[in-house]
Amino acid sequence: MPPTRRATSAKSETTVKKVKGTLWLKVHSKTPEVDSIRVAANVIRKGGLVAFPTETVYGLGADALNPKAIVGIFEAKERPADNPLIVHIAEREDAYKLATNIPNTADKLMTKFWPGPLTLILKRSAIVPDATVVGLETIGIRMPRNKVALALIRESGVPIAAPSANRAGKPSPTTAQHVIEDLAGRIDVVLDGGPTRVGVESTVIDMTTRIPQILRPGGTQLEELKAVLGKVTLHPAALSGRKVRTLRTRAPGMKHRHYAPEAEMILVEGEMGRVVKRVKELTALSMADGKRVGILATDESISRYDGDVLRSLGSRSDMAGIARNLFRLLREFDEEKVDLIIAEGVPTQGLGLAVMNRLRRAASFNILKAS
Ligand code: TXA
Ligand code: MG
Repeated sequence: MPPTRRATSAKSETTVKKVKGTLWLKVHSKTPEVDSIRVAANVIRKGGLVAFPTETVYGLGADALNPKAIVGIFEAKERPADNPLIVHIAEREDAYKLATNIPNTADKLMTKFWPGPLTLILKRSAIVPDATVVGLETIGIRMPRNKVALALIRESGVPIAAPSANRAGKPSPTTAQHVIEDLAGRIDVVLDGGPTRVGVESTVIDMTTRIPQILRPGGTQLEELKAVLGKVTLHPAALSGRKVRTLRTRAPGMKHRHYAPEAEMILVEGEMGRVVKRVKELTALSMADGKRVGILATDESISRYDGDVLRSLGSRSDMAGIARNLFRLLREFDEEKVDLIIAEGVPTQGLGLAVMNRLRRAASFNILKAS
């Protein structure tokens, strides 16, 4: 292990640790240390697994063109075998190597939103191994807006396939600590570039249909996409209040259990005043039942509740803050060992669409309409 530059600086604490064999490397988020990036890039080139920060969540990366390395991702995460991976690139021209028949509309989106939290589903090219896209004719590609991620991709010299770096089914990781909790001993390296900025994953948009369709709402807002594309549709599973069954699903990720904390979770939706009333009633009933109750609320309402564990996502006037805090707070309820999480819904405008998509899945569609 070559020493990193930071390891020699006076202020830095431990920048290199090992947890169950996984190397935990702290790097500077804006100007990542070249030595550390090289260590990680070598692991990628040899077919190993490196978790790294993106602007959305931490990803679990491997060489997208190496089928053996890709198998490693599925094993480490215990990911269902039918869920394809997003491929991360640092140069736009790489999109043209990985995909064919790229429509003009996709070019427009690249210009406007890359690097950034937008994944484009395109027709895949012949160089893409079946393993990466689980045999599909399409591929999801994105260019992340994070200096550590971009440095890693460039130094590796290969496109990097990366799902979120959590155990399948759990909330996505927004810190390196979360990655360690889920994957220590199962991956080679985690590059720690601090907490992620956006907090929810990229928006996934299918550009192979006549009218582009959002398969997963995320960090790039529907309203922003409409402004560029004119027409955009939302896949029925993207905001459904129920589990949607489609036969040949183009949104394979949608059918799996997602973001779920260990405790049972109920999501209360509706007008604020009514939501607060229902949350209070439910809390009282559940506590009387001997349950340890966690409440996931907002700054505007949190002082009105008296559950066992109270957490605020932030102010309703700052949806970006709510998105940033969401996955971390869901994980905190696991640590607090609550039996039940009662969560408030939020409006579905802007980033609220992505937040509600995650909350409904985290609650396994256990939704209460407060009226
Ligand atoms: O922000 C993000 O997108 C993060 C960071 C690490 O980049 N990645 C991420 O990956 O969230 P993952 O694997 O957790 O979610 C990828 C989603 C899944 O729902 C998957 O089904 C969908 O993208 N997807 C990937 N390739 C696809 C394809 N060819 N067609 C349809 N959906 C695809
Ligand atoms: Mg994921």
